[in-house]
Amino acid sequence: MRLSTLALGALATLPLALAGEKVVDTKHRPTWCFSACDDTLSPIHFTDKNDSLGYYQSKLASPLYIASVVGCMETYCKDHALVGWDYVLNYAKEQGVEAPAYTSLLKLLPPLSSMEVIDTEVVMHNTSNMYAAPVLPNQVNFDHGRDTEWTWDDEMIMHHAFGWALWLLLGLMVIVGVANRLLTAYVAHKHRNSVDAESAGASSSKATGLTRAYTWYRGNVSTPALLGYRHLQPWGWVSIPTRLQAIAIAFYVILNLIFTLVGYHVFPENMYYSEYPTSFQLWRYVADRTGIMAFYNLPLLWMLAGRNDFLIWLTGWTYQSCNIFHRWAARVAVVQSIIHSAAYTWLERDDPYSELWAQEYWRTGVIATVAMCVLLPLSLKPIRDKVYEVFLILHICLAVVVLVMLWYHVKIFDGSYNPWLYACIGVWAFDRLLRVGRIAVLSFRTLGQQNTVATMTGGPEGLVRMSVNSSVRLHPKPGSYYFLYSPRSIKPWENHPFTLGSWEQTEAGTTLHFLFAPQAGWTRSIQKRIAKVSDGVAPSTSMRVLLEGPYGHDHPVTSYENILLIAGGSGITAILPYVFALQNESGPRHARHVTVVWVVRNAHYAADVLARELAPKHTHGIDIQVHVSREEGATASDVIDELPTDVAAEVESDDGSSSSPQESPVHEKPEGGKERDSDSDGEGHLRIRSGRPVMDTLVGRSVSQLIGAERLAVLGCGPAGMMDDLRRAVSTRYGSGEGQVSGSTIEYFEEAFMW
Ligand SMILES: Cc1cc2nc3c(=O)[nH]c(=O)nc-3n(C[C@H](O)[C@H](O)[C@H](O)COP(=O)(O)OP(=O)(O)OC[C@H]3O[C@@H](n4cnc5c(N)ncnc54)[C@H](O)[C@@H]3O)c2cc1C
Ligand SMILES: *[C@@H]1O[C@H](CO)[C@@H](O)[C@H](O)[C@H]1NC(C)=O
Ligand SMILES: *[C@@H]1O[C@H](CO)[C@@H](O)[C@H](O)[C@H]1NC(C)=O
Ligand SMILES: *[C@@H]1O[C@H](CO)[C@@H](O)[C@H](O)[C@H]1NC(C)=O
Ligand SMILES: *[C@@H]1O[C@H](CO)[C@@H](O)[C@H](O)[C@H]1NC(C)=O
Repeated sequence: MRLSTLALGALATLPLALAGEKVVDTKHRPTWCFSACDDTLSPIHFTDKNDSLGYYQSKLASPLYIASVVGCMETYCKDHALVGWDYVLNYAKEQGVEAPAYTSLLKLLPPLSSMEVIDTEVVMHNTSNMYAAPVLPNQVNFDHGRDTEWTWDDEMIMHHAFGWALWLLLGLMVIVGVANRLLTAYVAHKHRNSVDAESAGASSSKATGLTRAYTWYRGNVSTPALLGYRHLQPWGWVSIPTRLQAIAIAFYVILNLIFTLVGYHVFPENMYYSEYPTSFQLWRYVADRTGIMAFYNLPLLWMLAGRNDFLIWLTGWTYQSCNIFHRWAARVAVVQSIIHSAAYTWLERDDPYSELWAQEYWRTGVIATVAMCVLLPLSLKPIRDKVYEVFLILHICLAVVVLVMLWYHVKIFDGSYNPWLYACIGVWAFDRLLRVGRIAVLSFRTLGQQNTVATMTGGPEGLVRMSVNSSVRLHPKPGSYYFLYSPRSIKPWENHPFTLGSWEQTEAGTTLHFLFAPQAGWTRSIQKRIAKVSDGVAPSTSMRVLLEGPYGHDHPVTSYENILLIAGGSGITAILPYVFALQNESGPRHARHVTVVWVVRNAHYAADVLARELAPKHTHGIDIQVHVSREEGATASDVIDELPTDVAAEVESDDGSSSSPQESPVHEKPEGGKERDSDSDGEGHLRIRSGRPVMDTLVGRSVSQLIGAERLAVLGCGPAGMMDDLRRAVSTRYGSGEGQVSGSTIEYFEEAFMW
């Protein structure tokens, strides 16, 4: 086992060795020869050794001890003697003590054969064994001394190698992420060619083993939530990852566990711990291992938390997935630091605690561990949901405390552990600088002016529309979101992410339109502000808003032939840019059939968006189905009544409630059943009906419309429950059964308004 872990460790240090870094020594310290002799001769009592001088000084001042060490080195490890003595000379110089050169020592040394050979392990610690002449340890003693040194080195190598292996794992995941991105682009390209070449109607479903495996993978691994249903909806206090995320997390956690459990070489003759039971050795190594691995995990943790981050740029992972990993890396690091602290507390149990606390490294270590432990429960989902701003401020403050305390904690290592902390600070500073940079670029010209009109539609439960003028011309892509700040509020640092819904180019720059549903905090205060300033049907006010962005990724939805865009409530914002991209005549257009399904409860803002962004002139050839869910008592006809006449003329309302609202069905009517299948070509339709749709039916209908090798993209953005229904509806479509399709035929994209 030891060999295999070392091999693993060696493998992990390879990139390091290649990089020529000197963070980890990949071989034994060159001074091992001196140290081995010193280990075995230290406990021996020489008549000229005055122990009250202190540990090192007493040795340097004892010619008998020095001669014995030189004799030992000359006997057992001659080739490594000089470099060992250089180390002693350096040390002596630092202490301001004179020490003789090696050559002069050799001259004084008695013939080796004349020196008494003793068993140091038998006579040590016995003050009645005093030596008045240099002595030699026997071969076994020396071997134990050497093993003591080499084992220490091997353990250090392994601690660091396992840490590097974690970084390697991340590197590997980045490579996989990048490869996956390229592959997806390539497959989409190939697919385009094959669809273009193929006559519509010809079936291409030749189920080879590979495609069957891929279909299984999509249906059982990559798409569903870990336990089948809940993903965006938390389970109690925990959020549930998707299966693919869970596998990656499990891999990372298990690797950390294995790296904490293996690679310890404990032997009773170890001279560092000759006075202690062997469990002491083990716990010392465990303590060091967990402390060092926690240090390696810290930069990972920071890298996974940034908005501006190479990981995100390279791999195309969403901030949400990075955030899930951030939490797991944090949990692992906290557990490691707890083990590290507990083990050291146990190892030092004989020392009075007040003495330990008096030492800076101890004190700061305790504070850092406590701060890390406090961070975990403070980051639980209920706290983030209820008091996000409090969570954020405490999170940042405690993170600073941890970094500062750790800096003092590792000061005893003369800065050799600072690079890990600098990496965290670097990653953090990089993110923060870029944030400021982005704000400056987008908002510099609006300094001291108002650049935003905020409008409210649909009353207190309605929607706020914010139109922000940016200082530069932007060319937004679907999927991008911005953070908005209100710099003139009492909390100018507070910022919230919003998806860009639509935009207009002006002479001076770009006007960005955001739509948001007021929650309890910042969004509510904006809404109140609008209401205070003005009233009427669509009250509005001007204000100054800072923009930071753009962030987010463009999903390749537009390269599919069939597109199903599903939104719930304010989730429509995330859908709109894709609708516009599909309208762009000059861009590539492959879509044959695009359906937008919007489930909305507020009739006023449904009408507002239908009259503007989703107006017929912006939605050529797109099927739009609006489902007015009945939580606020609104019906389809309420929406139709509010529409401008040109839009209302397009409405095809088939639930019979349009003429007389009083008659509208009492129950929520799911779709399907008697409803006739919509035409796939020609004019778009706008249908408005009352009641909620069933996600599975929506997906099923889109799947049944696929022809030949066509593919379907499903993009969803909405409330957690609805999104989880949708995810499950998609993942059950993979397979070879009735109404099921192969793995590459259908793709699910999720835009969540949360992390
Ligand atoms: C990428 C992304 C895009 C979004 N786009 C839109 C959009 O287009 N339209 C829309 O209506 N909503 C959107 N949201 C949600 C929106 O950001 C929150 O509703 C808003 O931040 C709530 O602010 P509040 O102070 O009123 O929240 P609170 O009432 O205090 O909290 C409501 C919820 O919002 C979360 N939240 C609060 N502040 C933040 C923050 N700074 N970052 C992340 N989550 C936060 C809380 O955890 C809580 O779950 C988006 C969220 C994300 C993550
Ligand atoms: C040992 O060192 C101490 C402190 O320097 C000194 O007081 C004492 O006399 C020394 N003892 C002997 C035996 O040299
Ligand atoms: C210490 O060494 C003396 C002399 O060799 C021996 O008599 C004595 O038993 C030893 N004491 C112990 C505790 O081993
Ligand atoms: C935003 O820019 C447009 C075009 O330049 C301008 O008409 C509008 O008044 C600006 N809005 C604000 C709030 O400054
Ligand atoms: C339309 O597509 C073209 C080509 O891809 C692109 O240059 C242009 O910016 C797009 N226009 C809009 C409004 O998105």
